[in-house]
This record gives sequence, structure tokens and C-alpha cells, in this order.
Amino acid sequence: MKTTTVSYQQEKVFSGAIRAFHWLRALAIVLLVATGFYISWPYLVGADSTDVLVQGWIRVAHLICGFALCAITAVRAYLFFFSKSDIERRSFKDVMRLSSWIAQIKSYLWMGHLKKAGVYGPLQFMTYFVISLLAAFMCVTGLVLYANVYHEGLGGALWSSASWLTEAMGGLAMVRILHHYVTWCFVVFLIIHIYMAVWFGIRFRHNAVDAIVSGYDYRPQQPHP
Ligand code: HEM
Repeated sequence: MKTTTVSYQQEKVFSGAIRAFHWLRALAIVLLVATGFYISWPYLVGADSTDVLVQGWIRVAHLICGFALCAITAVRAYLFFFSKSDIERRSFKDVMRLSSWIAQIKSYLWMGHLKKAGVYGPLQFMTYFVISLLAAFMCVTGLVLYANVYHEGLGGALWSSASWLTEAMGGLAMVRILHHYVTWCFVVFLIIHIYMAVWFGIRFRHNAVDAIVSGYDYRPQQPHP
């Protein structure tokens, strides 16, 4: 029986900081969705309980993860623009090329491959860009909700901007509704993101979920006997 051996080339794609902040952001978002939905429907858990503190603890957890997400969002934006490796920034070149969009869509339909300028294809880049903007939106609306409840300390310091934003967004109820609606974007994103990460690894045989764990991508080389 004839056997062929495929060798793989190793390439560093994600730095330690990018990987650490990816998983911290993922954890914060999952906890924020779970605690946020509990805040909306507080009797989902413990309906028969008289332990009214449950809602308070869930709310504290939401705020801790919320402030963590604010910090992560800021650091992640900094890393995108200023990290030593320009592998993420280079992907923008593909966003500006119509041919790259077409090549990526065709590759998803099993027609050829896109030779990427950076680490993301244009569709991925734009999806991550929009989800980062939505994370920033959740941080702003979350801080507005926070400042409307806590009038001392940080809440007090944020109050003048928060009251302006509350009015600009159509009132406190509207801020809360938007904060709630956008939560669903994260739920949909998480499902598609996990599916695509696994599918991508199977379809293209490289840059699967392990790249964001180990930092390394493995590209198959020409098979040799
Ligand atoms: C991906 C990020 C986030 C998600 C998915 C999320 C989700 C939610 C949801 C679903 C609610 C309930 C809204 C309702 O009443 O129906 C909520 C409330 C709230 N969130 Fe967030 N949130 C996020 C980020 C943040 C951040 C960054 C902060 C602040 C630093 C924050 C602070 C708050 C506050 C203060 C409330 C109101 C709590 C209350 O009314 O008792 N959230 N969030």
C-alpha cells in the first residue's frame, strides 16, 4: 500500500496578549449574557425562593464582568493598532479588495482558496469589527445604566456625560431596551463564531480553534511520498 506524508509549516499568528484577551473577552461576554438575561427575567431561577439577594449578587457579577469588558475592549483596541505584529492590521488590505471578498465567498462554496494578506479574510475582519463596535456600545450603554443608579464615586464622575447620553438616546428606558436587544447580537455571534471556527479548520485544514490557544497556525505543504 502506498502512503503519502503531508508535512506542515508552523507559523506564529497570535501573540500571547491577543490570545489572553480573546479568552478573557469570551468569558466576560458569556457571563454578561447569562447574568444580563437573569436581570431581565429574575424569576427564571429560584422562583419559589424568598432569598431576594440572588438578584443583587447576579447584578454585582454583571457589573464586575461589565467593568472587565470595558477594560478588555480598550486594551484590545490598543493591541489592534499598536501591537508589534501587524498580522491583524494587514487583513484590512483584503477588506479594500473586491477580488478578496469574491475569493473568500467562493472558497466557502468549495471553489478555490483566498490567499490572505493578514490573518483574517474580509468577511471575518468586518464581522469582528462590527462585534467590537457592539462591545463598545454595550460598554457605553452599560456605564450609562450604571451612572443612573450609582450617583457617587465613578457613577457621579460619569453623570454629566451619562445624563446627556440618556437624553440623546431617548430616555433611560430606551437605553435599557437597546442594551437588551444588542445582547441578542452576541448570542447569535457566539453560535456562528464557534461553528465557523470549527468548520474553517475542517475545510481549510489550518488556522482552526487551536491557533487562538497555542498561537500557531499549521499549513499543509505539498504532499510528498
Ligand atoms: C456584551 C456585554 C453585555 C451584555 C450582553 C449585557 C447584557 C445585559 C442585559 C440583557 C441586561 C438586562 C436589560 C434589561 O433590563 O432587560 C443588562 C443590564 C445592565 N447592564 Fe449589561 N450587558 C453587557 C455589558 C455591560 C457593561 C459593560 C456594563 C457596565 C459596565 C453593564 C451594566 C449593566 C447595568 C447597570 C444593567 C442594569 C441592571 C439593572 O437594571 O438592575 N452591562 N445587561
